Amino acid sequence: MLAEQRTHTEYTTDTNLDDDRLWIPYVEGAWFQACSFNVSTGGFTNVLKIAPGAMLNPHYHISTVYGYTLRGSWHYLEHDWVATPGTFIYEPPGEAHTLVVPADAKEPMITFFHVSGGLIYLDTVDNGKIVAYDDGFTLLELARKHYQNVGLDQSLLDRLIR
Ligand SMILES: [Fe+2]
Repeated sequence: MLAEQRTHTEYTTDTNLDDDRLWIPYVEGAWFQACSFNVSTGGFTNVLKIAPGAMLNPHYHISTVYGYTLRGSWHYLEHDWVATPGTFIYEPPGEAHTLVVPADAKEPMITFFHVSGGLIYLDTVDNGKIVAYDDGFTLLELARKHYQNVGLDQSLLDRLIR
């Protein structure tokens, strides 16, 4: 979508946590449903689902992150708290962490995240070698491929771009 085609109006979008087709594969055992893509900052909002025993590799964010846990439980290897339904999370830029859902968890975790910019994936938190990158643009590409694969309407994604 060209910048001049971007709309500036309000919108709503309806996620459906129980519709498997809407979950966009991210990494092994992790999926998301998109809520917004900010093509000025690379930020995005989404609902993230991670299965028991799966994880997000070590990474840090170049800008702030806000999260709100809806279902299940999860934690970061680097911290001693556990997020459960109702837990709000704030993450400052630059703070490296590894998101884990315990293998013995009874259900996937589902969390709404507002991520204000890119994520930088590291080999390990201590070593700090950059191994991958994601932001609203790379996630939009993943979403487009998934929508094409399962026959969902691409314009549903275009509506989420601001
Ligand atoms: Fe994170």
